[in-house]
Amino acid sequence: MNKKTIEDIQVSGKRVLVRVDFNVPLDENGVITDDNRIRAALPTIKYLVEHQAKVILCSHLGRPKGEFNMKYSLKPCVERLSQLLGQPVGLACDVIGDCAKKMAAELQDGQVMMIENVRFHKEEEKNDPEFAKALASLAEIYVNDAFGTAHRAHASTAGVAAYLPAVAGFLIGKELDFMGGALENPQRPFVAVLGGAKVKDKLGVITNLLDKVDTLLIGGGMSYTFQKAKGGQIGNSLVDNDRLQFCLDMMELAAKKGVKLLLPVDNEATQEFANDAMRITVHSNEIPEGWEGMDIGPKTQELFAAEIRGAKTVIWNGPMGVFEFPNFAVGTQAIAKAMSEVDGITIIGGGDSAAAVEQLGFADKMSHISTGGGASLEFLEGKELPGVACLMDK
Ligand code: 3PG
Repeated sequence: MNKKTIEDIQVSGKRVLVRVDFNVPLDENGVITDDNRIRAALPTIKYLVEHQAKVILCSHLGRPKGEFNMKYSLKPCVERLSQLLGQPVGLACDVIGDCAKKMAAELQDGQVMMIENVRFHKEEEKNDPEFAKALASLAEIYVNDAFGTAHRAHASTAGVAAYLPAVAGFLIGKELDFMGGALENPQRPFVAVLGGAKVKDKLGVITNLLDKVDTLLIGGGMSYTFQKAKGGQIGNSLVDNDRLQFCLDMMELAAKKGVKLLLPVDNEATQEFANDAMRITVHSNEIPEGWEGMDIGPKTQELFAAEIRGAKTVIWNGPMGVFEFPNFAVGTQAIAKAMSEVDGITIIGGGDSAAAVEQLGFADKMSHISTGGGASLEFLEGKELPGVACLMDK
Protein backbone atom coordinates (compact mmCIF):
# COMPACT_ATOMS: atom_id res chain seq x y z
CA MET A 1 0.00 0.00 0.00
CA ASN A 2 1.31 3.45 -0.87
CA LYS A 3 -0.35 5.14 2.10
CA LYS A 4 1.20 5.86 5.50
CA THR A 5 0.01 3.61 8.30
CA ILE A 6 -0.04 3.87 12.08
CA GLU A 7 3.43 2.34 12.06
CA ASP A 8 4.73 5.38 10.16
CA ILE A 9 3.69 7.92 12.78
CA GLN A 10 4.50 8.58 16.45
CA VAL A 11 1.31 7.85 18.38
CA SER A 12 2.57 7.57 21.93
CA GLY A 13 0.88 10.06 24.29
CA LYS A 14 -1.19 11.45 21.38
CA ARG A 15 -4.97 11.72 21.06
CA VAL A 16 -5.81 9.53 18.07
CA LEU A 17 -9.22 9.65 16.37
CA VAL A 18 -9.86 6.24 14.80
CA ARG A 19 -12.70 5.76 12.29
CA VAL A 20 -13.84 2.16 12.54
CA ASP A 21 -16.77 0.44 10.85
CA PHE A 22 -18.89 -0.94 13.68
CA ASN A 23 -21.96 -1.04 11.45
CA VAL A 24 -22.79 -4.54 12.68
CA PRO A 25 -26.09 -6.43 12.36
CA LEU A 26 -28.34 -6.29 15.45
CA ASP A 27 -31.40 -8.41 16.22
CA GLU A 28 -34.75 -6.96 17.34
CA ASN A 29 -33.47 -6.77 20.92
CA GLY A 30 -30.40 -4.77 19.93
CA VAL A 31 -28.06 -7.76 20.36
CA ILE A 32 -25.13 -8.01 17.93
CA THR A 33 -25.57 -11.06 15.68
CA ASP A 34 -22.15 -10.87 13.96
CA ASP A 35 -19.21 -9.10 15.62
CA ASN A 36 -16.66 -9.68 12.85
CA ARG A 37 -16.29 -6.01 12.09
CA ILE A 38 -15.47 -5.28 15.74
CA ARG A 39 -12.95 -8.13 15.88
CA ALA A 40 -11.40 -6.91 12.62
CA ALA A 41 -10.64 -3.53 14.20
CA LEU A 42 -8.85 -5.05 17.21
CA PRO A 43 -5.29 -5.16 15.79
CA THR A 44 -5.29 -1.39 15.25
CA ILE A 45 -6.91 -0.59 18.60
CA LYS A 46 -4.55 -2.94 20.47
CA TYR A 47 -1.51 -1.48 18.72
CA LEU A 48 -2.55 2.03 19.76
CA VAL A 49 -3.22 0.93 23.34
CA GLU A 50 0.14 -0.85 23.54
CA HIS A 51 1.85 2.25 22.19
CA GLN A 52 0.21 4.39 24.87
CA ALA A 53 -1.99 6.45 22.57
CA LYS A 54 -5.25 8.01 23.80
CA VAL A 55 -7.74 6.25 21.56
CA ILE A 56 -10.97 8.00 20.49
CA LEU A 57 -13.09 5.74 18.29
CA CYS A 58 -15.87 6.85 15.97
CA SER A 59 -18.26 4.95 13.69
CA HIS A 60 -21.71 4.97 12.17
CA LEU A 61 -24.33 2.32 12.88
CA GLY A 62 -27.28 1.96 10.53
CA ARG A 63 -28.91 4.93 8.87
CA PRO A 64 -30.36 7.21 11.61
CA LYS A 65 -30.87 10.02 9.05
CA GLY A 66 -29.05 12.79 10.90
CA GLU A 67 -31.00 12.58 14.16
CA PHE A 68 -30.17 11.34 17.65
CA ASN A 69 -32.00 8.02 17.91
CA MET A 70 -30.91 5.63 20.65
CA LYS A 71 -32.02 2.66 18.54
CA TYR A 72 -28.77 3.34 16.65
CA SER A 73 -26.59 3.99 19.71
CA LEU A 74 -23.12 2.44 19.64
CA LYS A 75 -23.66 1.12 23.19
CA PRO A 76 -23.83 -2.58 22.18
CA CYS A 77 -20.63 -2.19 20.14
CA VAL A 78 -18.79 -0.49 22.98
CA GLU A 79 -19.82 -3.28 25.39
CA ARG A 80 -18.66 -5.95 22.95
CA LEU A 81 -15.40 -4.15 22.24
CA SER A 82 -14.68 -3.76 25.90
CA GLN A 83 -15.12 -7.55 26.40
CA LEU A 84 -12.88 -8.35 23.42
CA LEU A 85 -10.24 -5.84 24.44
CA GLY A 86 -10.30 -6.79 28.12
CA GLN A 87 -10.41 -3.19 29.27
CA PRO A 88 -13.18 -0.65 29.86
CA VAL A 89 -14.23 1.52 26.92
CA GLY A 90 -16.20 4.68 27.71
CA LEU A 91 -19.03 5.88 25.47
CA ALA A 92 -19.66 9.62 25.18
CA CYS A 93 -23.31 10.62 25.23
CA ASP A 94 -22.84 12.82 22.16
CA VAL A 95 -20.66 13.11 19.04
CA ILE A 96 -18.91 16.50 19.07
CA GLY A 97 -20.65 18.01 22.13
CA ASP A 98 -19.43 18.82 25.63
CA CYS A 99 -19.61 15.22 26.76
CA ALA A 100 -17.33 13.95 23.95
CA LYS A 101 -14.94 16.90 24.37
CA LYS A 102 -14.63 16.43 28.15
CA MET A 103 -14.07 12.68 27.87
CA ALA A 104 -11.47 13.16 25.13
CA ALA A 105 -9.66 15.81 27.14
CA GLU A 106 -9.53 13.62 30.25
CA LEU A 107 -8.44 10.46 28.43
CA GLN A 108 -5.17 8.96 29.71
CA ASP A 109 -2.45 7.20 27.71
CA GLY A 110 -3.55 3.67 26.76
CA GLN A 111 -7.25 4.36 27.42
CA VAL A 112 -10.02 3.89 24.86
CA MET A 113 -13.30 5.76 24.41
CA MET A 114 -15.91 6.04 21.71
CA ILE A 115 -18.07 8.95 20.62
CA GLU A 116 -21.69 8.33 19.63
CA ASN A 117 -22.88 7.43 16.13
CA VAL A 118 -21.48 10.06 13.74
CA ARG A 119 -24.65 9.78 11.63
CA PHE A 120 -26.64 11.39 14.46
CA HIS A 121 -25.52 14.59 12.70
CA LYS A 122 -26.70 15.12 9.14
CA GLU A 123 -23.43 16.96 8.45
CA GLU A 124 -21.59 13.60 8.57
CA GLU A 125 -22.96 12.25 5.28
CA LYS A 126 -22.73 15.72 3.69
CA ASN A 127 -19.04 15.76 4.46
CA ASP A 128 -19.57 19.17 6.05
CA PRO A 129 -16.18 20.89 6.68
CA GLU A 130 -17.25 22.46 10.01
CA PHE A 131 -18.39 19.09 11.33
CA ALA A 132 -15.17 17.47 10.10
CA LYS A 133 -13.19 20.22 11.84
CA ALA A 134 -15.10 19.64 15.09
CA LEU A 135 -14.30 15.91 14.90
CA ALA A 136 -10.66 16.70 14.19
CA SER A 137 -10.48 19.06 17.19
CA LEU A 138 -10.94 16.04 19.50
CA ALA A 139 -7.55 14.61 18.46
CA GLU A 140 -4.05 15.16 17.08
CA ILE A 141 -3.89 12.24 14.63
CA TYR A 142 -6.54 10.61 12.44
CA VAL A 143 -6.50 6.89 11.63
CA ASN A 144 -8.95 5.43 9.13
CA ASP A 145 -9.56 1.73 9.67
CA ALA A 146 -13.16 1.63 8.42
CA PHE A 147 -12.67 -0.34 5.21
CA GLY A 148 -16.41 -1.10 5.02
CA THR A 149 -17.18 2.62 4.79
CA ALA A 150 -14.13 3.68 2.76
CA HIS A 151 -16.30 4.09 -0.37
CA ARG A 152 -18.23 6.91 1.35
CA ALA A 153 -16.84 10.46 1.19
CA HIS A 154 -18.24 11.46 4.57
CA ALA A 155 -16.86 13.80 7.26
CA SER A 156 -15.50 11.01 9.49
CA THR A 157 -14.22 8.84 6.62
CA ALA A 158 -12.59 11.50 4.43
CA GLY A 159 -13.30 15.14 5.39
CA VAL A 160 -11.51 14.98 8.73
CA ALA A 161 -8.24 14.05 6.99
CA ALA A 162 -7.93 17.66 5.80
CA TYR A 163 -7.35 18.81 9.38
CA LEU A 164 -5.08 16.15 10.93
CA PRO A 165 -2.15 13.96 9.91
CA ALA A 166 -4.09 11.02 8.41
CA VAL A 167 -2.91 7.41 8.21
CA ALA A 168 -4.36 3.94 7.58
CA GLY A 169 -5.02 1.32 10.24
CA PHE A 170 -4.10 -2.36 9.92
CA LEU A 171 -7.50 -3.48 8.62
CA ILE A 172 -7.48 -1.08 5.68
CA GLY A 173 -3.88 -2.14 5.02
CA LYS A 174 -4.81 -5.84 5.05
CA GLU A 175 -7.88 -5.39 2.83
CA LEU A 176 -5.91 -3.41 0.26
CA ASP A 177 -2.97 -5.80 0.34
CA PHE A 178 -5.15 -8.85 -0.31
CA MET A 179 -7.54 -7.41 -2.85
CA GLY A 180 -5.08 -5.00 -4.44
CA GLY A 181 -2.46 -7.76 -4.61
CA ALA A 182 -4.90 -10.10 -6.34
CA LEU A 183 -5.96 -7.49 -8.87
CA GLU A 184 -2.54 -6.08 -9.64
CA ASN A 185 -0.26 -9.06 -9.43
CA PRO A 186 -2.27 -12.29 -9.18
CA GLN A 187 -0.81 -15.77 -9.13
CA ARG A 188 -2.39 -17.48 -12.13
CA PRO A 189 -4.74 -19.01 -13.05
CA PHE A 190 -6.85 -16.17 -11.60
CA VAL A 191 -10.55 -17.07 -11.35
CA ALA A 192 -13.36 -14.69 -10.35
CA VAL A 193 -16.76 -15.99 -9.30
CA LEU A 194 -19.64 -13.54 -9.51
CA GLY A 195 -23.20 -14.09 -8.38
CA GLY A 196 -25.96 -12.23 -6.60
CA ALA A 197 -29.29 -11.03 -7.82
CA LYS A 198 -28.57 -8.11 -10.10
CA VAL A 199 -26.41 -7.58 -13.19
CA LYS A 200 -26.85 -3.84 -12.55
CA ASP A 201 -24.79 -4.04 -9.34
CA LYS A 202 -21.88 -5.74 -11.07
CA LEU A 203 -21.50 -3.78 -14.33
CA GLY A 204 -18.26 -2.10 -13.27
CA VAL A 205 -16.90 -5.24 -11.60
CA ILE A 206 -17.39 -7.41 -14.69
CA THR A 207 -15.83 -4.79 -16.94
CA ASN A 208 -12.82 -4.31 -14.68
CA LEU A 209 -12.28 -8.02 -13.98
CA LEU A 210 -12.28 -8.94 -17.67
CA ASP A 211 -8.98 -7.07 -17.87
CA LYS A 212 -7.47 -9.10 -15.03
CA VAL A 213 -8.78 -12.66 -14.77
CA ASP A 214 -8.21 -15.83 -16.74
CA THR A 215 -11.65 -17.23 -15.99
CA LEU A 216 -14.93 -15.58 -14.99
CA LEU A 217 -17.68 -17.77 -13.55
CA ILE A 218 -21.12 -16.15 -13.47
CA GLY A 219 -23.91 -17.75 -11.43
CA GLY A 220 -26.78 -16.64 -9.21
CA GLY A 221 -29.64 -14.33 -10.13
CA MET A 222 -27.56 -12.31 -12.56
CA SER A 223 -26.78 -15.33 -14.76
CA TYR A 224 -30.35 -15.56 -16.13
CA THR A 225 -29.97 -12.22 -17.91
CA PHE A 226 -26.86 -13.60 -19.63
CA GLN A 227 -28.78 -16.75 -20.62
CA LYS A 228 -31.64 -14.72 -22.05
CA ALA A 229 -29.18 -12.49 -23.94
CA LYS A 230 -27.84 -15.66 -25.58
CA GLY A 231 -31.37 -16.60 -26.65
CA GLY A 232 -32.13 -19.06 -23.82
CA GLN A 233 -35.55 -19.69 -22.24
CA ILE A 234 -35.42 -18.58 -18.59
CA GLY A 235 -39.08 -18.92 -17.55
CA ASN A 236 -39.90 -16.63 -14.64
CA SER A 237 -36.30 -16.25 -13.46
CA LEU A 238 -34.85 -12.90 -12.43
CA VAL A 239 -34.00 -10.82 -15.47
CA ASP A 240 -32.84 -7.31 -16.28
CA ASN A 241 -34.11 -6.64 -19.79
CA ASP A 242 -32.22 -3.34 -19.94
CA ARG A 243 -28.87 -5.12 -19.65
CA LEU A 244 -29.21 -7.78 -22.35
CA GLN A 245 -26.93 -5.86 -24.70
CA PHE A 246 -24.42 -5.32 -21.88
CA CYS A 247 -24.28 -9.10 -21.33
CA LEU A 248 -23.72 -9.73 -25.04
CA ASP A 249 -20.99 -7.09 -25.11
CA MET A 250 -19.26 -8.67 -22.10
CA MET A 251 -19.37 -12.15 -23.62
CA GLU A 252 -17.87 -10.74 -26.83
CA LEU A 253 -15.22 -8.82 -24.90
CA ALA A 254 -14.30 -11.92 -22.91
CA ALA A 255 -13.84 -13.89 -26.14
CA LYS A 256 -11.67 -11.10 -27.58
CA LYS A 257 -9.48 -10.96 -24.49
CA GLY A 258 -9.17 -14.72 -24.25
CA VAL A 259 -10.99 -14.82 -20.89
CA LYS A 260 -12.98 -17.98 -20.30
CA LEU A 261 -16.48 -16.76 -19.30
CA LEU A 262 -18.60 -19.63 -18.03
CA LEU A 263 -22.31 -19.56 -17.30
CA PRO A 264 -24.36 -22.26 -15.56
CA VAL A 265 -25.30 -25.26 -17.70
CA ASP A 266 -28.07 -26.45 -15.36
CA ASN A 267 -30.28 -24.90 -12.68
CA GLU A 268 -32.64 -25.90 -9.92
CA ALA A 269 -36.05 -24.39 -10.66
CA THR A 270 -39.33 -24.07 -8.77
CA GLN A 271 -42.80 -22.67 -9.35
CA GLU A 272 -42.93 -21.05 -5.93
CA PHE A 273 -40.35 -18.92 -4.11
CA ALA A 274 -40.12 -21.16 -1.03
CA ASN A 275 -37.57 -23.44 0.63
CA ASP A 276 -39.73 -26.56 0.39
CA ALA A 277 -41.13 -25.86 -3.09
CA MET A 278 -41.16 -28.79 -5.54
CA ARG A 279 -38.03 -28.55 -7.70
CA ILE A 280 -36.74 -29.72 -11.05
CA THR A 281 -33.23 -29.71 -12.48
CA VAL A 282 -33.22 -28.17 -15.96
CA HIS A 283 -30.82 -27.01 -18.66
CA SER A 284 -30.03 -23.35 -17.95
CA ASN A 285 -31.37 -22.26 -21.34
CA GLU A 286 -34.57 -24.32 -21.09
CA ILE A 287 -36.27 -23.16 -17.92
CA PRO A 288 -40.01 -23.72 -18.56
CA GLU A 289 -42.58 -20.94 -18.42
CA GLY A 290 -43.90 -20.56 -14.85
CA TRP A 291 -40.64 -21.86 -13.29
CA GLU A 292 -37.81 -19.79 -11.88
CA GLY A 293 -34.15 -20.57 -11.32
CA MET A 294 -33.30 -20.80 -7.60
CA ASP A 295 -29.77 -22.26 -7.62
CA ILE A 296 -27.10 -23.66 -9.91
CA GLY A 297 -27.53 -27.35 -10.68
CA PRO A 298 -25.17 -30.32 -9.98
CA LYS A 299 -23.36 -30.19 -13.36
CA THR A 300 -22.64 -26.49 -12.91
CA GLN A 301 -21.42 -27.10 -9.37
CA GLU A 302 -18.91 -29.60 -10.75
CA LEU A 303 -17.92 -27.38 -13.66
CA PHE A 304 -17.35 -24.31 -11.48
CA ALA A 305 -15.66 -26.30 -8.68
CA ALA A 306 -13.14 -27.77 -11.14
CA GLU A 307 -12.19 -24.30 -12.40
CA ILE A 308 -11.85 -23.01 -8.85
CA ARG A 309 -9.78 -25.95 -7.59
CA GLY A 310 -7.30 -25.47 -10.44
CA ALA A 311 -6.78 -21.77 -9.64
CA LYS A 312 -3.99 -20.05 -7.74
CA THR A 313 -6.07 -16.94 -6.99
CA VAL A 314 -9.85 -16.84 -6.55
CA ILE A 315 -12.08 -13.85 -5.79
CA TRP A 316 -15.75 -14.49 -5.09
CA ASN A 317 -18.59 -12.02 -4.78
CA GLY A 318 -22.28 -12.97 -4.71
CA PRO A 319 -24.14 -16.21 -3.93
CA MET A 320 -25.07 -18.78 -6.59
CA GLY A 321 -28.71 -19.07 -5.54
CA VAL A 322 -31.25 -18.20 -2.88
CA PHE A 323 -28.88 -19.33 -0.13
CA GLU A 324 -31.15 -18.00 2.63
CA PHE A 325 -33.27 -21.09 1.87
CA PRO A 326 -31.22 -24.13 2.97
CA ASN A 327 -32.53 -26.22 0.06
CA PHE A 328 -31.12 -23.70 -2.40
CA ALA A 329 -27.81 -23.04 -0.64
CA VAL A 330 -26.24 -26.13 -2.23
CA GLY A 331 -24.66 -24.30 -5.19
CA THR A 332 -23.24 -21.58 -2.95
CA GLN A 333 -21.95 -24.26 -0.60
CA ALA A 334 -20.23 -26.05 -3.51
CA ILE A 335 -18.35 -22.85 -4.38
CA ALA A 336 -17.33 -22.31 -0.75
CA LYS A 337 -16.14 -25.90 -0.49
CA ALA A 338 -14.15 -25.73 -3.74
CA MET A 339 -12.53 -22.50 -2.55
CA SER A 340 -11.59 -24.16 0.73
CA GLU A 341 -9.62 -26.73 -1.32
CA VAL A 342 -7.63 -24.20 -3.36
CA ASP A 343 -3.87 -24.27 -3.03
CA GLY A 344 -3.50 -20.50 -3.37
CA ILE A 345 -5.13 -17.21 -2.39
CA THR A 346 -8.90 -17.16 -1.77
CA ILE A 347 -10.70 -13.88 -1.22
CA ILE A 348 -14.34 -13.34 -0.35
CA GLY A 349 -15.52 -9.92 -1.41
CA GLY A 350 -17.78 -9.11 1.51
CA GLY A 351 -21.56 -8.75 1.76
CA ASP A 352 -23.75 -11.80 1.07
CA SER A 353 -20.91 -14.11 0.06
CA ALA A 354 -19.10 -13.37 3.34
CA ALA A 355 -22.32 -14.13 5.24
CA ALA A 356 -22.76 -17.35 3.21
CA VAL A 357 -19.21 -18.54 3.92
CA GLU A 358 -19.67 -17.82 7.64
CA GLN A 359 -23.05 -19.50 7.75
CA LEU A 360 -21.82 -22.57 5.86
CA GLY A 361 -18.78 -22.96 8.13
CA PHE A 362 -15.96 -22.30 5.63
CA ALA A 363 -14.78 -18.94 7.00
CA ASP A 364 -11.52 -20.14 8.54
CA LYS A 365 -10.56 -21.85 5.26
CA MET A 366 -10.32 -18.62 3.26
CA SER A 367 -7.22 -16.43 2.91
CA HIS A 368 -9.26 -13.27 3.35
CA ILE A 369 -12.90 -12.31 3.95
CA SER A 370 -13.46 -8.65 3.28
CA THR A 371 -15.35 -6.61 5.89
CA GLY A 372 -16.68 -4.38 3.14
CA GLY A 373 -19.71 -5.13 0.96
CA GLY A 374 -20.17 -1.94 -1.06
CA ALA A 375 -16.53 -0.92 -0.47
CA SER A 376 -15.06 -4.16 -1.80
CA LEU A 377 -17.34 -4.01 -4.87
CA GLU A 378 -16.15 -0.47 -5.63
CA PHE A 379 -12.58 -1.60 -5.12
CA LEU A 380 -13.10 -4.51 -7.53
CA GLU A 381 -14.53 -2.00 -10.01
CA GLY A 382 -11.13 -0.33 -9.94
CA LYS A 383 -12.43 2.82 -8.26
CA GLU A 384 -10.38 4.88 -5.84
CA LEU A 385 -11.97 4.78 -2.37
CA PRO A 386 -12.32 8.29 -0.83
CA GLY A 387 -11.50 6.93 2.65
CA VAL A 388 -8.15 5.73 1.32
CA ALA A 389 -7.41 8.54 -1.14
CA CYS A 390 -7.56 11.11 1.72
CA LEU A 391 -4.70 9.47 3.67
CA MET A 392 -1.07 10.63 3.54
CA ASP A 393 1.11 9.08 0.86
CA LYS A 394 4.23 7.16 1.89
C1 3PG B 1 -21.74 -1.18 5.01
O1 3PG B 1 -22.30 -1.90 5.85
O2 3PG B 1 -21.69 -1.47 3.79
C2 3PG B 1 -21.00 0.03 5.49
O3 3PG B 1 -20.95 0.10 6.86
C3 3PG B 1 -21.57 1.29 4.88
O4 3PG B 1 -22.88 1.52 5.32
P1 3PG B 1 -23.84 2.42 4.43
O5 3PG B 1 -24.18 1.62 3.20
O6 3PG B 1 -25.04 2.74 5.29
O7 3PG B 1 -23.09 3.67 4.04
